[in-house]
Amino acid sequence: MSVLLTGGCGYIGSHTAVELINSGYDVILADDLRNSSEIVVERIEQITGTLPKLYKADVTDRAAMDTIFEENDITAVIHFAALKSVPASVANPLEYYRNNISGAITVMESMAAHGCRTLVFSSSATVYGSDLPAPFVETMPLSQPSHPYGRSKQMMEQIITDAAAAGLVDAVLLRYFNPIGAHESGLIGEDPSGVPGNLMPYITQVAIGRRPYLNVYGTDYDTRDGTGLRDYLHVMDLARGHVMAMEQIKPGCDAINLGTGMGTTVLELVSAFETAVGIHVPYEIGPRRAGDIDVILADPKKAELVLGWKAEKTIEDMCRDTWNWQVKNPNGYV
Ligand code: UFG
Repeated sequence: MSVLLTGGCGYIGSHTAVELINSGYDVILADDLRNSSEIVVERIEQITGTLPKLYKADVTDRAAMDTIFEENDITAVIHFAALKSVPASVANPLEYYRNNISGAITVMESMAAHGCRTLVFSSSATVYGSDLPAPFVETMPLSQPSHPYGRSKQMMEQIITDAAAAGLVDAVLLRYFNPIGAHESGLIGEDPSGVPGNLMPYITQVAIGRRPYLNVYGTDYDTRDGTGLRDYLHVMDLARGHVMAMEQIKPGCDAINLGTGMGTTVLELVSAFETAVGIHVPYEIGPRRAGDIDVILADPKKAELVLGWKAEKTIEDMCRDTWNWQVKNPNGYV
């Protein structure tokens, strides 16, 4: 059985590729490499012993997608490929909508034209918007995200839901919380370009000496210590969740949270990292970052009930594995 991973060279795509290959699937990666590296393919081979096929292709390019379906017998698609920076989406909304929305539509059109129905969609907790009380449950009516990136994910979910209602696809919308960590080999991991926007890559870049200190964005949130609280989950747990969701896809469309249900604040993550790897991480307290909210936390019960999936790895595992990746690849994939 061949599975197509759009955005397969990215952070979550590459880890999911490893899980799929280790579970016996043929994996085909489609990636335009604008925000990822081709080196990932060799690293996947080093880990699994199998070199996945890579198509350098843009998901908005229908002809390129059709070629992939024509040359391979693809039975399922995991659609990761999308732009994901919150501030970039505020600055370039049209680019975000064109790429993300048109990418999802093109992939589904190409699937429909080639008789492929199974779709696992890379969604995000961002679809719950900024006004709902945590923990977030899948049955909550969604509120409005505060940025075009979040709105694009909400729109993609809606389009997929409509396509499923019309009988074109059977889909699962996986709403990720905050994925961190790396494969335990340290061969693949998160490789942000430029200054990291997310907390964990910033912490590791401070620890390795690439940046002098961490900026803590605000200490006046309504949390235990005043810093933002998030539901961090290990990227390998997340990858396993994709395989389980794909294997249990049902007719129609269903949304499922992938999170731990346990929150960690910014200062708690700094402290957990220091304990796990034994390196001090200096930080300075600064003002809030625009658009941030106090708490983002999953209610993870549905994933366990429907998929039998539960996050297993601890915050300590996440810190140790991220650090292992950072130390082995101090400048990312170069
Ligand atoms: N933070 C810092 N300093 C930093 C970076 C982050 O203090 O240098 C804080 C943030 O204020 C927040 C927490 O660390 O409280 C986590 O921030 P991240 O940027 O790592 O993660 P977010 O929860 O803000 O963002 C994630 C995804 C986005 C998505 C958003 C909402 O990265 O794609 O969740 O679902 F839009």
